[in-house]
Parts: sequence; structure tokens; C-alpha cells
Amino acid sequence: MKKISIVYWSGTGNTEVMAQAISKGAQDNSEVKLVKVEDANKEDILDADAVAIGCPSMGAEELESEYMEPFIASFENIDLNGKPMILFGSYDWGDGQWMKEWDERMKDYGANILQEGLITHLSPEDEDIHKCEEIGKKLSNI
Ligand SMILES: Cc1cc2nc3c(=O)[nH]c(=O)nc-3n(C[C@H](O)[C@H](O)[C@H](O)COP(=O)(O)O)c2cc1C
Repeated sequence: MKKISIVYWSGTGNTEVMAQAISKGAQDNSEVKLVKVEDANKEDILDADAVAIGCPSMGAEELESEYMEPFIASFENIDLNGKPMILFGSYDWGDGQWMKEWDERMKDYGANILQEGLITHLSPEDEDIHKCEEIGKKLSNI
């Protein structure tokens, strides 16, 4: 069975709903670990066959600073060695700049970004949920 990890931070639950939908999409043919970044460790990323990482746009187009930013920074000097990865998260008033930068950053760290990070405006709607489930399927079929 493929091992899929979904690591996320969510303050008001929007990114969490996305994470749960990705998990649902991946569940049929893989073993899924859905974990809050507060409880995650590096092995959740390094030992998985494919990963999704989620965080809303915070600060000024930045990752959440207390947990997600240090977690991501901890991979800077570890070669992710082509780890299949898709990023996701919710935003409000911005234009998705945080996600573009995050995709590029993870490519620089050696991840194999399978598709542009999925962004949803505030609370995910049915169409967004569907896209999340498709991400789960894509990761589990890698
Ligand atoms: C402190 C703070 C900073 C934020 N900064 C941005 C921002 O720079 N750009 C943006 O589009 N949305 C920003 N937002 C809006 C959040 O990204 C949005 O509310 C999102 O849905 C939160 O996701 P969550 O429910 O998973 O926490 C910010 C929200 C907060 C609370």
C-alpha cells in the first residue's frame, strides 16, 4: 500500500476541510496519515510515498509563522529527492502569491511538485472539495 501523508495548519478550519477532502480522495488505495503540523515530524514527509502540505495565506502572503514556517524551513538542508508533493490552502483578500512562492520554495528544496498548489477562497465550495479529492487520488496513484 502507498503511504500518503497530509500535513496541515488551519486556524479557522478552511484548510482543514481541504485536508480532509484530500484524505478522502486518497483513502481507497493508500494508507493515509492526516496530521496537524503541530503534531507532525520530518519523517511524516520523508517516509511517505507522496505528500500534501496545507497552509492558508497568513501574515502578508506568508506561511503561518509559529508552526508551519519552521516545519518547512527544516527541509531546507535536506534533499527532498524528488518527493511527490502537492500544496494547498485557503486565502481571503490576496491573489495567491504565498502559494506561488511556496511551490517554488519546495521545488528549490528538491520536491517534485505534481501540480500548482490548490488555493480556495475562504471556505471550500463543492467544486473545491472535488479538486481536493482529485489531489488525493493523484497522490495515491503516483
Ligand atoms: C493574521 C492573518 C493574516 C492573513 N493574511 C492573509 C494574506 O496575506 N492574504 C490573504 O489572501 N489572506 C490572508 N488571511 C486570510 C486567511 O488566509 C483566510 O481567512 C483563510 O481562509 C484562513 O484559513 P484557515 O481557516 O485554514 O485558517 C489572513 C488571515 C489572518 C488571520
